[in-house]
Amino acid sequence: MSDNKRRDFIGMALGGGAAIGATATLIAMKKTWDPLPSVVSAGFTTVDISALKEGELMTIEWRKKPVYILRMAKNDPDAQKYLGKRNFKIGDSIYTVGVQVCTHLGCIPSYDGEKREFICACHGGKFNSSGINEPGTPPPTPMTIPPFKITDGGKKLIFGEAGEEYNQLIKA
Ligand code: FES
Repeated sequence: MSDNKRRDFIGMALGGGAAIGATATLIAMKKTWDPLPSVVSAGFTTVDISALKEGELMTIEWRKKPVYILRMAKNDPDAQKYLGKRNFKIGDSIYTVGVQVCTHLGCIPSYDGEKREFICACHGGKFNSSGINEPGTPPPTPMTIPPFKITDGGKKLIFGEAGEEYNQLIKA
């Protein structure tokens, strides 16, 4: 190998080494900047709602808050009344979701399936089945609708992501 060729080869080898080193450094830096996988997934909660029966409510935890999902009873007049405002459809069924925290002073209301209302034991606050505060009781506003998205052909909800239905309810 002539001196020139040897110099070129060494230069290329060093240059290549430097490029690999720079790439490795960039990858390492990116890993440092990227949030941990646990942080990325922490804001999202996927819930399988396929087993919910009509009139049945389930409560899950999302961002350390209780969130209810109610598959509304067919004979609940509030289901149709607040459709598109507080409630949404999946297939033929009407669902409603909300952060299950009383908007008076933050207690957790429980749902009475017979009366179709949420009752807050702290100061007697009441919300109808669509999460709307009942006049004459302490809560000043309806329960908050958390961002959600329908997924998996309507079998699951993802909380923490704003889907079409959520955006419609928020605008109403
Ligand atoms: S905290 Fe619910 S009525 Fe006061």
